[in-house]
Amino acid sequence: MRWSWGHLALGVLLGIACGVMLALLLEAKRGALKPLGPQLHLKSKSSLYPLIPLIPLAPDVLDNPKERLSKQLLSPDMAVVKYPYSYPFLINHLDKCQGDTAPFLLMLVMTQPQDSEAREAIRTTWGDEAIVPSVTIRRLFVLGLFPSHLHRRLQYLLEEEDAENQDLLQVGFLDTYNNLTLKTLMGLEWVARHCQTAQYVLKVDGDVFLNPSFLVHRVLQPEGPPRPTFITGYIYKNRMPMRKPHYKWYMPRKVFPATIYPPYCAGAGYVMSGCLVMKILAVAQKIKAIYLEDVFVGLCLKHLRVKPTPSPLDIFQFFGREYERCDFNQLAIVHPIKPVDLLWIWMDFQKANTTCPPS
Ligand SMILES: *[C@@H]1O[C@H](CO)[C@@H](O)[C@H](O)[C@H]1NC(C)=O
Ligand SMILES: *[C@@H]1O[C@H](CO)[C@@H](O)[C@H](O)[C@H]1NC(C)=O
Repeated sequence: MRWSWGHLALGVLLGIACGVMLALLLEAKRGALKPLGPQLHLKSKSSLYPLIPLIPLAPDVLDNPKERLSKQLLSPDMAVVKYPYSYPFLINHLDKCQGDTAPFLLMLVMTQPQDSEAREAIRTTWGDEAIVPSVTIRRLFVLGLFPSHLHRRLQYLLEEEDAENQDLLQVGFLDTYNNLTLKTLMGLEWVARHCQTAQYVLKVDGDVFLNPSFLVHRVLQPEGPPRPTFITGYIYKNRMPMRKPHYKWYMPRKVFPATIYPPYCAGAGYVMSGCLVMKILAVAQKIKAIYLEDVFVGLCLKHLRVKPTPSPLDIFQFFGREYERCDFNQLAIVHPIKPVDLLWIWMDFQKANTTCPPS
């Protein structure tokens, strides 16, 4: 092909067009980033924390757990968790459960260190300790170490967040999906050491909607008799271990040879009596800990010969549910719910007790 003035003119035009588009793109990108500034300043009380998610995270944090698992779980050793082991409590609140009245309900909320946005949403919604006036509720967020060492330097942000809210319980293990069992067990160890008076303990993930008054009055029933071996939630029965390594909940035969899991409560949220916490912990010292925390608690229950108590009417909804005020008014926990959605859902939900049929 030979160059001509026509080609040259076309080339120049294309060049200009590209330049203009690039400039437009850059402008658009800058525009898109702009609203973040004012947003951060709106939340004056906690303006520091929303910064955490904006700092680029290493791939090991951003990967979805599914992919991460398939890569990590090549060796069966990965399905076993290092426990018992004396992991240190790095941020602690020894007197959380001290006070005039013993806690009726202790909420152990599982978040990762970088989930400051979720924690803030929970504090102002269902995690508010004063939300059910007739009973004493205490809240703690259980977390481990930033999973990527690149982010360890953000530790000071966690300490500031805790100084303001007094509700973090940080334990010295890497906060990864495979270590979730440690998170639950260390939360329960904390209960055994510092909160034995709690009547009920809720283990709940940070990405849920919780209806505290329904949970307290309908499920736990403060007026009822004590139930020393009570545990309830969404109960899985006759579940079979997944044997293919690419499955999210892969379980190597070597680690768990039986063909069926004992009944267990799905990990997104279950609630148990304080007495049962001590019993589960005692058994957990003796049997091999596996990375599926809800299955592991089920294994402990089996050793204790305790069966989870069925809950009525699917009040634990763990497969997604569209928000509807009066529907949610009759549920205990819905999973999953994003922090941004939790905020508007909660605002609307306040009208439930005056506009919905009594539960
Ligand atoms: C779990 O935490 C321990 C202690 O920090 C760490 O050595 C281990 O690598 C973690 N496991 C996974 C799978 O991240
Ligand atoms: C309804 O719920 C809101 C928010 O939880 C609470 O402030 C209010 O006192 C409740 N009203 C009644 C009548 O229970």
